[in-house]
Amino acid sequence: MSVIRDFDCVVKHSEQVLPGVVKIVFDCAGIASVALPGQFVQIEPSPGAFPVTRRPITINRLTENGFELLFDVIGPGTELMARMKPGDEVRILGPLGCGWTVEPGSSWLLIGGGLGAAGFQFLMDTVDSTTVLIGASDSDRVIPLGACHVVTEDGSAGGRGLVTALISEELLAGADSIAVCGPVAMMEAVWSTIPEKYRDKVQISTESRMGCGWGVCDGCSIPVSGGGYKKCCKEGPVFSGIEIDWKRWKEAGL
Ligand SMILES: Cc1cc2nc3c(=O)[nH]c(=O)nc-3n(C[C@H](O)[C@H](O)[C@H](O)COP(=O)(O)OP(=O)(O)OC[C@H]3O[C@@H](n4cnc5c(N)ncnc54)[C@H](O)[C@@H]3O)c2cc1C
Ligand code: FES
Repeated sequence: MSVIRDFDCVVKHSEQVLPGVVKIVFDCAGIASVALPGQFVQIEPSPGAFPVTRRPITINRLTENGFELLFDVIGPGTELMARMKPGDEVRILGPLGCGWTVEPGSSWLLIGGGLGAAGFQFLMDTVDSTTVLIGASDSDRVIPLGACHVVTEDGSAGGRGLVTALISEELLAGADSIAVCGPVAMMEAVWSTIPEKYRDKVQISTESRMGCGWGVCDGCSIPVSGGGYKKCCKEGPVFSGIEIDWKRWKEAGL
């Protein structure tokens, strides 16, 4: 079992990549050397200066001596993070959680909704073969991922439509594993589109409001089949699609 550690990471680079979306690269060999695709970190937005708790962000990719995060600026925590500049020291807990289950030599179909695709790059860099489908509201929400099939609701990038329109029998049959990440409603629509015979290939990267990020506060439950709950931070954030109780998860309005 890996030990959860807090690291003093240094901001190497920060930039706005899309309106309201910021990329930060941290130097931190300690986290980068053990991180796996689909894991996240808990980042302290403003050390000691403001009572904002840590915020969970998925590791988007590894860099030469650290890792990169890509996040939406939507509230006090991410606003403080967006102000970080090169040279700042930031306490970061991680890597946390269970990421994608990757079998050697497997081919993947990745299906992302908007900023949900933040984190796909690490998986794309790790596995042998990927086909990537991205859906977003408009071109300002399509994160740069290289070769992928894109649709937007207003048609401003790729074709016009929803990401479910890109899913085909051929793509589902040809993939060993299927990764899905995005808003809950989008993931539920994708899940409903996938025929039963392919559902055991599907892995879902979930999100929940988090406290501790490592299993002690009970603040991040995801409803699972059979009536129980699992901790998004420790047993997830990636779960098999079959494990999730979609009806209760959707009703919870997370
Ligand atoms: C495991 C995990 C990985 C994540 N990875 C990323 C990532 O790579 N990039 C990214 O942009 N965001 C990611 N998030 C979401 C990110 O943690 C939140 O956007 C952030 O904590 C918001 O903090 P804030 O103080 O800026 O806004 P807040 O004031 O805390 O929230 C602003 C609004 O967003 C809603 N919200 C905040 N967090 C969540 C959440 N987890 N689920 C649902 N609604 C939420 C709040 O209800 C509120 O309406 C991740 C969340 C989890 C749990
Ligand atoms: S966030 Fe505390 S148990 Fe998951």
